[in-house]
Amino acid sequence: MRPTRIDPTSSCAYVGEPMRISLSDYERDATAVLEPMVHGYYAGGAEDEATLRWNREAFGRVRLLPRVLRGVGERTTATTVLGTTIRTPVMVAPMAFQRMAHPEGELATVRGAGRAGTVMVTSTLATTPLEEIAEAATEPLWFQLYVYRDRGATRELVERAAAAGYQALVLTVDTPVLGSREREARGGFRVPDTLPLQEGPSSLARYAHRHLDPDLTWDDVVWLRSVTSLPVVVKGVVHPDDARLAVEAGAAGIVVSNHGGRQLDGAVATLDALPGVAAGAAMAGGAEIYLDGGVRRGVDVLRALALGARAVLVGRPILWGLALEGDQGVERVLEILTSEFSRALALCGLRSPQEAMQEGAGLLGPTPSPPSAHRPPFPGAGGSS
Ligand SMILES: Cc1cc2nc3c(=O)[nH]c(=O)nc-3n(C[C@H](O)[C@H](O)[C@H](O)COP(=O)(O)O)c2cc1C
Repeated sequence: MRPTRIDPTSSCAYVGEPMRISLSDYERDATAVLEPMVHGYYAGGAEDEATLRWNREAFGRVRLLPRVLRGVGERTTATTVLGTTIRTPVMVAPMAFQRMAHPEGELATVRGAGRAGTVMVTSTLATTPLEEIAEAATEPLWFQLYVYRDRGATRELVERAAAAGYQALVLTVDTPVLGSREREARGGFRVPDTLPLQEGPSSLARYAHRHLDPDLTWDDVVWLRSVTSLPVVVKGVVHPDDARLAVEAGAAGIVVSNHGGRQLDGAVATLDALPGVAAGAAMAGGAEIYLDGGVRRGVDVLRALALGARAVLVGRPILWGLALEGDQGVERVLEILTSEFSRALALCGLRSPQEAMQEGAGLLGPTPSPPSAHRPPFPGAGGSS
């Protein structure tokens, strides 16, 4: 299958044969080719998957109020995160076990992210040693970390990541215990024994029980900062008070995340939580704010920037691209999002992510109120028949 090339600067994004046009095409086709057990693990959320759905639905409720006649011929999608320039405000979220999607796993993902000019966050639960991933990287890498019960092992991992050249630590804090992912359980999910796991055994539940420390507190963030000079980004914050505490504990960044709806089912959608987190962080002096969960269109990126994010991370669509087309699929997914984002900028009268962030709430239109039960019926709508 010939991959479609995208020119992110052109108004007509597709050159050549259009195959998979949007991220939903990738999702559909990956669902058809992945083994059901693997697909269930990747796609699923916790329990009834309400939060998983809400993450997506929240984007649909945010209506934009575009500006016109502002000369948008020259645009850039580039921005900076923690002082590093990336070509697009879309980063790759940490995701475990990528070799189940494609034999090259994380190595393909890091090559795709590199060609798209953005940061990839390597999961602690990668199926490729973090050093090999770093060797294949052409753009900055961040390392996702769980603080284990065994602080010595945690520290070792931190030191390995620093020695390999990772530029930030992303500390995941929404996982004191593992969410109950019922699709995973029903599908009998197990990491194949043939896969080299960097950390942990093949049963995720067993791994979580053994290693995750449910007694972590903000002091552990302070401890982590004391054992590394790398900036620490706290991932998994949705409460404004926690955003403030994260900044007070020295976080350089915060990822507004509910783990893609895989932890607390019933937790708020990340886009809905974003303004509160941005305000909470600002109260303590500020940090860079990123968001993940349900980003599937370039216009979603713009919505997140308007509501206070500096950049977003994208999860599952990367796995769909990886499963279908390896590194090219990862690159294409990122390019589609970037191309859509560039077009959304132009159509809103904006020329850069910075302008979108500055415009902020000025980009948001009124949300239509739901139909009211108290409204009088239309004249002649006949209530008696
Ligand atoms: C298959 C899968 C594995 C994940 N593994 C991790 C992980 O190891 N560490 C982590 O912090 N988050 C992990 N996440 C959560 C993602 O980093 C991210 O928060 C989420 O996927 C974003 O939502 P989206 O998939 O809707 O884009 C995982 C998510 C998925 C779907």
